[in-house]
Amino acid sequence: MHTDYLIIGSGIAGLTFAIKISAFFPDKTITIVTKSTAEETNTKYAQGGIAVVQNQTGDHFKKHIEDTLICGDGLCNQEVVEMVITQGPKRLQELIDWGAKFDMNSAGYLDLGREGGHSINRVVHHKDQTGFEIERAILAQANSRNNIQILDFHFALELILEKNQCFGAYVLNETTNEILTIQSDITLLATGGIGQVYGHTTNPAVATGDGIAMAKRAGATIKDMEFIQFHPTALYDKNATSTFLISEAIRGFGAYLRTKNGHRFMLDYDERADLASRDIVSQSIETELKKSGEACVYLDCTHLHPDNFIKHFPMIYRRCKDLGIAIEKDWIPVLPAQHYVCGGIAVDRNGETTIENLFACGESSRTGLHGANRLASNSLLEALVYADNIYNFLIKQTSKNSMHRKEFKTWKPIEECKIDPQYILNTKNALQHLMQNNVGIVRHEKDLLVAKSQLQSWKNEVVAMQKQHQITKDFYELKNMIAVGILIVDQSIARRENRGGFVKI
Ligand code: FAD
Ligand code: SIN
Repeated sequence: MHTDYLIIGSGIAGLTFAIKISAFFPDKTITIVTKSTAEETNTKYAQGGIAVVQNQTGDHFKKHIEDTLICGDGLCNQEVVEMVITQGPKRLQELIDWGAKFDMNSAGYLDLGREGGHSINRVVHHKDQTGFEIERAILAQANSRNNIQILDFHFALELILEKNQCFGAYVLNETTNEILTIQSDITLLATGGIGQVYGHTTNPAVATGDGIAMAKRAGATIKDMEFIQFHPTALYDKNATSTFLISEAIRGFGAYLRTKNGHRFMLDYDERADLASRDIVSQSIETELKKSGEACVYLDCTHLHPDNFIKHFPMIYRRCKDLGIAIEKDWIPVLPAQHYVCGGIAVDRNGETTIENLFACGESSRTGLHGANRLASNSLLEALVYADNIYNFLIKQTSKNSMHRKEFKTWKPIEECKIDPQYILNTKNALQHLMQNNVGIVRHEKDLLVAKSQLQSWKNEVVAMQKQHQITKDFYELKNMIAVGILIVDQSIARRENRGGFVKI
């Protein structure tokens, strides 16, 4: 199979690029492969919104740039920060033109929320379901284009490579178990986050770091993987099978963090108190929990106007209510959970990786915007801006867009011998447990060394198994999660200085 553009992933990064390139080249074919239903992405779960400067509030690019740099704790690339933030208003307008709806205030301007690390309200949102609304709008746009085909339940296994050039990817059709050789002139990795490596995560099941693992195996440069962002306020629910986020926008709306006995502990840690950046709030919660031995801290919304709360956060209100938490009188139990990976596949300003014809965009990429800790609501913005940068780069590089066709060997699947699903499940559980305990918010060198050796031994096991067994999506996800675990551990061992979201003692 041949396509002009192969996009792996159907979140904000992949779809934005697809929509743009499809309009410029109506005669070219764009194929999006996505391993679940098309809408099942981290994007769909985004709550708080997109950080974009709006002049009418007295905000200025300079302030947003400064907030981002402070949050990144000295490790952001300032040029990248300036480029991304100044493009915000244009990229937001495009989303609006594609049909995404954002909340407005009574004066007819975009209603702006606030989150940790921001010095002013600047977060454009759609209630507490901003990502759901964006994904809805851009997926509808992509589906309306004749030259875009979306192959759902298609899992990208490996990149097709020759001499540091990418020629597409081998893709498992999850329904037929056939392995397709999809050749493309340009390949874009837009595979999102890695949350499942930790298990206790705000990310959905699709976030297994496949793109980062695949790029690593292909020899691409991967950077900053030690900077894992833990969101301070995931809902604490012992019985839940997945972790529900309580948006930081609620603290931006005036909620306070408290210990079980009511102490507003964030006042002890940072002058911005509950609105300090995420790394500081998560680390402070971790310290409090270690001191008290409790399982969680609490978010107090009881002083907030209930009608206003429901208007802004209807989904969170409903979820709490279903669990018997009445936010008018009860505090919400919360604790930190893995949320975002600041590092990933290293790209330049044009989204180019270190492999020719291979681009990366969105959470799987590392642009230099986030440094040691991402500023809240800068991720959706980064994906929009880099999708646009890649598009602008490619429409000017016509030679890159029409590659010489070649014959590549097909990947013959082994049919006979199936991998024991219990092995995959047990190893995945053990991996998540290991990462949670040994590679969490505060890390210790000796725990990292233990993790490294265990991960390496799992890696050897799966490499040996792959030679003799049928490949399944679950098996490959496990292989990728182990690879991502190794990257996080190795880069944590290599880092000698604590910054932002990285603490090693
Ligand atoms: P995703 O949206 O995750 O899309 C990845 C796609 O790749 C999916 O379609 C997936 O199925 C596919 N894929 C992965 N591997 C493969 C494979 N091997 N083969 C085929 N397909 C594959 N950021 C903000 O800026 N503001 C917020 O308010 C905000 N809130 C958040 C709330 C939650 C609960 C979460 C989890 C994240 C939040 N974030 C927020 C972060 C932000 O949502 C993500 O970083 C961003 O949406 C990532 O977009 P993406 O397109 O890079 O990846
Ligand atoms: C949130 O709503 O708290 C998440 C925002 C983000 O991850 O940027």
